[in-house]
Amino acid sequence: MNQDDEPRPARRHADGTESSRASRSWWDRNADDYQREHGTFLGGTGGGRFVWGPEGLDEERAGLLGPVAELAGRSVLEIGAGAAQCSRWLAARGARPVALDISHRQLRHALPAGPGAGPAFPLVQADVGALPFAPGSFDLACSSYGALPFVADPVRVLREVHRVLRPGARWVFSVTHPIRWAFPDEPGPEGLTATSSYFDRTPYVEQDERGRAVYVEHHRTLGDRVRDLVAAGFRLVDLVEPEWPAENRQEWGGWSPLRGRLIPGTAVFVCERG
Ligand SMILES: C[S@@+](CC[C@H](N)C(=O)[O-])C[C@H]1O[C@@H](n2cnc3c(N)ncnc32)[C@H](O)[C@@H]1O
Repeated sequence: MNQDDEPRPARRHADGTESSRASRSWWDRNADDYQREHGTFLGGTGGGRFVWGPEGLDEERAGLLGPVAELAGRSVLEIGAGAAQCSRWLAARGARPVALDISHRQLRHALPAGPGAGPAFPLVQADVGALPFAPGSFDLACSSYGALPFVADPVRVLREVHRVLRPGARWVFSVTHPIRWAFPDEPGPEGLTATSSYFDRTPYVEQDERGRAVYVEHHRTLGDRVRDLVAAGFRLVDLVEPEWPAENRQEWGGWSPLRGRLIPGTAVFVCERG
């Protein structure tokens, strides 16, 4: 780290191994703070909410996975689950979720409090690039900001998701809206002026004093995301850009009411497995 013990931001290449290593250790180190700060907004521990992003788009109302009444009994893979708030919401509606994440510490927050209490559904620590499931294991897959923004080879990930889904199954995932890449990640007015190219796919990397990546984000344009999905065998059914609701007054990093009123912050891809 530098003098202030702060990682140094850079734009440089980062391959799959370096990206996964950085994600695992970054989320292990930051899981407690992340859950302390955002856990309640994300639905807490009671299975109360499935949120697609900082705007607060709720699956209960959006129905992007299909009608809520039809979730009962369906096997669902949640990718980059964190504390598995989405899986808890799914389980509370009778679905059979499996929550997967690369970070042990994030998954630790998915365990109920109390000595000896086990999870209500399977928690799997694994890298999304190599899913430890047989082909055709799931009826649905979902991911709320999990894993996709952090992987170097999204087509490999999408092929893995395709492999473990049954034909015709839905795959719905949210990521930072690609347009945000061109703007500083700031919630105030400084986040409203484009300062870098939307078309520059060079990853954003925070490094330690030896130049090792400690945090990596990868950028894909909207067109890239569509091409990646098609290359992996998916059909795009909808692309949802949630609008910022007037009643949501909270800031979340670079997401804020000010910016949310003007530019989209989240893209939700609704797909079907071919
Ligand atoms: C922004 S958090 C989102 C967590 C949760 N879905 C939520 O809404 O709070 C991103 C999650 O993706 C996980 N992740 C990052 N890279 C991953 C990878 N290669 N494989 C599996 N999970 C990964 C992180 O550990 C983290 O829990």
